[in-house]
Amino acid sequence: MKITASITYYYFFCFLLVILLISAKAIAEEGNGNAEQPAEVKKSDFPDGFLFGVSTSSYQIEGAILDDGKSLSNWDVFVRKRGSVNNGDTADIAADHYHRYLEDIEIIHSLGVDAYRFSISWARILPRGKLGDVNPAGIMFYNKIIDNLLIRGIKPFVTIHHYDFPQELLDRYGGWLSPFMQDDYVRFAETCFKYFGDRVRYWITMNEANLLSELAYEKGIYPPGHCSPPFGNCSAGNSDIEPLIAMHNMLLAHSKAVKLYREQFQHKQGGMMGVAVSAMMYEPLSDDELDKEAANRALAFSLAWGLDPLVYGDYPPEMRRYHGKELPTFTSEEKQLLSNSTDFIGLNHYATVYAKDCIYSNCMCSNTTCLPGENRAIKGFVSTITERDGVPIGEPTGMFQTFIVPRGIKEIVDYAKKRYPDKPVFIVENGYCPPWEHGEVDDLQHDTKRVEYHKAYIASLAQAIRDGADVRGYFIWTLMDAFVWSSGYDLKFGLYSFDRVTLNRIPRLSAKWYRDFLRKTSLKDLESRSAIPAINQDGLVPNVKHGSAEMA
Ligand code: FCB
Repeated sequence: MKITASITYYYFFCFLLVILLISAKAIAEEGNGNAEQPAEVKKSDFPDGFLFGVSTSSYQIEGAILDDGKSLSNWDVFVRKRGSVNNGDTADIAADHYHRYLEDIEIIHSLGVDAYRFSISWARILPRGKLGDVNPAGIMFYNKIIDNLLIRGIKPFVTIHHYDFPQELLDRYGGWLSPFMQDDYVRFAETCFKYFGDRVRYWITMNEANLLSELAYEKGIYPPGHCSPPFGNCSAGNSDIEPLIAMHNMLLAHSKAVKLYREQFQHKQGGMMGVAVSAMMYEPLSDDELDKEAANRALAFSLAWGLDPLVYGDYPPEMRRYHGKELPTFTSEEKQLLSNSTDFIGLNHYATVYAKDCIYSNCMCSNTTCLPGENRAIKGFVSTITERDGVPIGEPTGMFQTFIVPRGIKEIVDYAKKRYPDKPVFIVENGYCPPWEHGEVDDLQHDTKRVEYHKAYIASLAQAIRDGADVRGYFIWTLMDAFVWSSGYDLKFGLYSFDRVTLNRIPRLSAKWYRDFLRKTSLKDLESRSAIPAINQDGLVPNVKHGSAEMA
């Protein structure tokens, strides 16, 4: 008996010892971790009024491609061409946000964000472009979104045009390759101001005109799929010229819409007009002056291509120097119209790469690690490279040429601060997609990498602000996994995943982290969110004057 009891005591004692050792080790490790890691970034590191948000775009989440009078968009048609999208994916249903918008707004609200960036489907509200009527069902849909955001204290941050437009405009005159598109766009923007402008304070005229021009007209992987060798073999197009023409039309369309807003709406509605550009950061591959110049040139040929005209009224001098007459010119009237035609700059930042000179070095592409055409003017004679001496610039992600380089967000903000000192900046997209493994991207719900990514990028942004940059907002791309253009559903950027069969939204760890990060919020913020008035059966807030009613 005595022996059995001592054995039991002995085992119990060993068990206690093991538990104690494990806890001591955990405490020690945590302690070490904290000691080595920089202080965690906090919401309170950002100025008062700074907007934290999430971004989406209409085509990527709405689905409902022909519901309630919507017409087919350029993307609805393009995805049906064989080989245009991975796995033949379409956005016919996408995340079915059109029918689940209320649930999604609840999710957005639960995150505790200050603002939500979304875009308006052109084909939903003006199915036939400027020649046709406004579609009341389309207007109603966005009214419901805006109202339901506002009653929850969330600011609508609206992108007017995010890649999708009625296919009819492409069929009729070739979309952005034609100057006709400018007036069609202005009519679309005017419709948005008229119907939604009474409740929207932040407008983005267009998403990434610079990237769109490249992907649609140089590489040919976005509609209308135009390109020419060595960039690709498309049935139509000229990669050296068409991106410049499309961009020219988009810049003029932007400036005309801004003029209209400023003359007819801004004094009543009091909103700000901005633009979102794709903002890749370029660092010189080596200390060589030629590579330093190449990095500057690359920034001018990408970011400043989309912004110099809207601030200074003309293309960057670096582009004029290397392009011939294929770079269009602006009349003096147009220059005036363009100058200072943006109240703020929206940056979509994902990647930092090295730049290598291709004017004096040989950048002929002969293997799979380089991109064709980098030795041409349209690319600024710059080769973009993602490793130096065999060492990658950062940890990989699932997106092409995109690595984790948190310093890049500060560098690109510093560049904008220097080049456009008077323009406030909003980071309107920044997000992480896990790398490919065994032929697919990692679909983890426990996405610690995404959490670390956002912490690091937000900390780097906080440093840029401490160093004097006027940054006013940060939006995570994206709320939930979505249709990612020619990559279909292969890339996963969401704080939420969604089940493609049940369409259920499932929070990832990163959603919980963002909620916690934002919860450390001021009492004032909380008060403005507390009371949610009831909405009527149509999903609208009673007693709110909608733009449509006001203009009727
Ligand atoms: C940006 C687009 C956005 C999204 C992300 C991943 O270029 O603006 O719609 O697809 O890439």
